[in-house]
Formats: sequence, C-alpha cells, structure tokens
Amino acid sequence: MGVIYSTNISPDPKAGIGMYSEKDFAEAVRKGIRRDGKHLYPAMPYPDYRGITDDDIHTLYVYFMKGVKPVPEKAPETSLSFPFNQRWGMWFWNIAFTDDKPFAPQNQASTVLNRGKYLVETLGHCGSCHTPRGIGMQEKALNDSDSKYLSGGELNNWPVPPLRGMPAWSVKDITEYLSTGRNDFASVGGEMTGVVEHSMQHMSDEDLNAIAIYLKSLPADTPESNRRPDAVAATRQTSDFLTKGHNLSEGQMLYMNNCEACHWTDGNGAKGIFPRLNGGDIVLADNPGGLINIILKGAETPSTINAPSVMGMPGFASRLNNEQVAALASFVRSGWANNASAVSDKDVAKVRESLDPAK
Ligand code: HEC
Ligand code: HEC
Repeated sequence: MGVIYSTNISPDPKAGIGMYSEKDFAEAVRKGIRRDGKHLYPAMPYPDYRGITDDDIHTLYVYFMKGVKPVPEKAPETSLSFPFNQRWGMWFWNIAFTDDKPFAPQNQASTVLNRGKYLVETLGHCGSCHTPRGIGMQEKALNDSDSKYLSGGELNNWPVPPLRGMPAWSVKDITEYLSTGRNDFASVGGEMTGVVEHSMQHMSDEDLNAIAIYLKSLPADTPESNRRPDAVAATRQTSDFLTKGHNLSEGQMLYMNNCEACHWTDGNGAKGIFPRLNGGDIVLADNPGGLINIILKGAETPSTINAPSVMGMPGFASRLNNEQVAALASFVRSGWANNASAVSDKDVAKVRESLDPAK
C-alpha cells in the first residue's frame, strides 16, 4: 500500500497530542479516530485496544500528558495512493472488521488467567502479529472465542508462531523468553525482538506469569509436526555422521565449516548462549523465510535487564550464494530430529531481494 508514518504522540500542542482531552485520547486509542475526526489506519492496532479499561486509559493519558517530554517536531505525513488515501474508507472497514465490545473476562477462570487474557487481548495486542489476517488485512479474530485467534501467521515473509497452548513450553519457558528474549527452545528474532526489547522485558513478573498461564489455557489446534519421534537416536545418527566427516553432502559440509563452532555437531547449541537448531521453532516452521533471513543477515539478541549480554551471529549473505544457502538450510531442517521440507534457491532469492541493504 505504501509507507504509513507513525504520528508524534508526545504532548506537544502543535506537533503532537497536547490538545487532546482524555475523551479524544480514548477515541484515538480505542476507535482509531483522531481529534479532527479523521480515521487512523489500523497500522495503529486500535482494534485490539478496544477493550482497554477506562482506568488504564486514564493512567495512559496522565502518563502521556505529564510523563512524556513534548517534541515540537512534526512527523512526516502519510500519503498513500488512491484508494488507500481516502481515510473515510476506514469507516466501512471499522464496521466490517472491528468489534465494539468491552473486554469480557471468562467467568469461570481465575483472576490471574483473566489478567493474562486482558493483557494479551488488549494492551499487549499480541494478535496483531500472531493472528492470521484476512482479505481486508484484518485480524481474523480479536479474542479467543474463535480458534483462529493467535494461531500464527506470517509477517514480512517471517513465520509468526502460534501461541495457542504452546504444548512444548512450560509457563517458565514462556516467561523466560518474554523477559530475556531467549530460552531453551528459541532465541528471539524478527519483529518479536522489539517486542521483548521495548516492552515485555519491563513487565512485572506477575504480569508475565499471567500471560503465560493464559496462553497455556488456550486449546492447541495442531500437534507438534516436522519433528522425528525418535529424537535421541536421530540426533545421534546425524552428529556421528558429521563427526566422522566422510561423504558429507554439500549442506552438511557448509554446516561444519560455518555453523558448527557455535551450534555444535548435535545442533543443540549451548543453553542460554547459542540457540538450538535441533528442534528449534524457527528452523522447523513451515515457512523457511525466518531461517533464511537469519542465515543471510545474522542476528543479535536484545540486551535486557535480566540478560544484558548481547549474543551475536554474523550474516552469511556475502559468503554464501543462493544455492549454498538452500543446501545448508535444507540440511538444518532435516538433520538430527528435524523433519521439515527442503528449501530451494528460489526461496533464498526471494528473501535476499527483500533485504534492506541499508540495514
Ligand atoms: C559465532 C557464533 C555463531 C555462528 C558461527 C553461527 N551462529 Fe547461528 N546464532 C548464534 C547466536 C548467538 C544466535 C542467537 C541470536 C539471536 O537469535 O538473536 C544464533 C541464532 C541462530 C538461529 C535462530 C535460532 C532461534 O531460535 O531463533 C539460527 C536458525 C541460526 N543461528 C543458524 C545458524 C546457521 C545455519 C549458521 C551457519 C551458517 C550459524 N547459525 C552460525 C551464533 C552463531
Ligand atoms: C510486532 C509483531 C509481534 C507482536 C506485537 C507480538 N509478537 Fe510474539 N512473535 C513475533 C514474531 C515474528 C515471532 C517469531 C520470532 C522468531 O522467529 O524468532 C514471535 C514469537 C513469539 C514467541 C515464541 C514462540 C515460539 O514458539 O517460538 C512467543 C512466546 C511470543 N511471540 C509471545 C508474544 C506475546 C505474549 C505477545 C503479546 C504480549 C506477542 N508475542 C506480540 C511477532 C510479534
């Protein structure tokens, strides 16, 4: 559609939202309506914010007006091409796709679970990335009354995992990931890095715990796939083969020469430092885009209060061509206990073209 610039929401009266009353503020946050009556684009996740309580809106308003420094600088204007520049069109979109109901707790559930549900559905707006989008780019479900809610999707060609039930993860695995960006299964990447870095790491332990308890309460729809059932034997077979080093395939050779030093012959990495590739969620995702992205661009864990050290991985875009990356990624997806589909050089070309050379 084009570029949508986020607006200045500091309390500057001219460039920002300094003239907003609390009611104006609530209308913008919960309904996507600006003080001048124009509609915001749902790049601002107001459909998720609809359920924020009056108390929390009040607290946010006071914080923005009193706690944020005014910045007297206008943000660039968004100018999309026709028909997307017709903001009034959002009126129809809102009628079709948003839900004008306040947050509804589950009557039977504990206070902790409902706290988690509230944070996930509203302030955390987890669904804006973790719920698949429909033809109008709307989230297919805004709460857990529908099994598509938090069932995973795709963002800029990066797989976004489902959060429903998270069968392989314990409550502690989830809170560890959200507060430090790493745990025994995964190391945060893609758009989730900013979520951990700028938001989740600052949440209280009680709130993180509530979120994890809520996610665990959702019925999971698909059992774990893309993994071999005999994980221990399959892992040993691959790591023995790599160690012997005879007749290695191109992918295995590339792995030994470029990756093994950090991720090890058994693909299990080193807990808390180098993430596992054997059984790693991003490695096994149906969409290999995230894995290819990391091989090309490298990755860096965010520095968080509870895990300040930054762990980095170099990018291989300039060292490996598309065929090599495809062979390597195919091996990583099928070695050890992994059993995910092969990657083609076309898949790699697609990701390489989408990389921003400036970053
Ligand atoms: C110098 C050490 C080092 C080397 C060499 C290295 N990695 Fe990494 N890798 C890391 C670190 C550290 C991370 C965690 C960074 C992050 O996710 O932010 C990581 C993350 C990853 C991830 C994401 C895992 C997850 O759970 O999110 C994948 C996939 C990966 N590496 C694959 C590879 C492949 C394939 C190679 C060889 C081409 C390789 N790495 C080479 C250190 C390394
Ligand atoms: C801006 C988009 C975005 C938002 C908002 C977001 N996530 Fe994520 N999330 C992602 C992406 C992308 C990944 C995959 C990261 C990777 O591949 O390393 C992810 C991964 C995760 C994972 C790891 C799951 C796994 O199986 O590996 C958890 C847990 C998670 N998110 C929880 C949440 C929660 C809880 C919220 C709301 C408080 C949230 N996310 C909001 C984009 C987002």
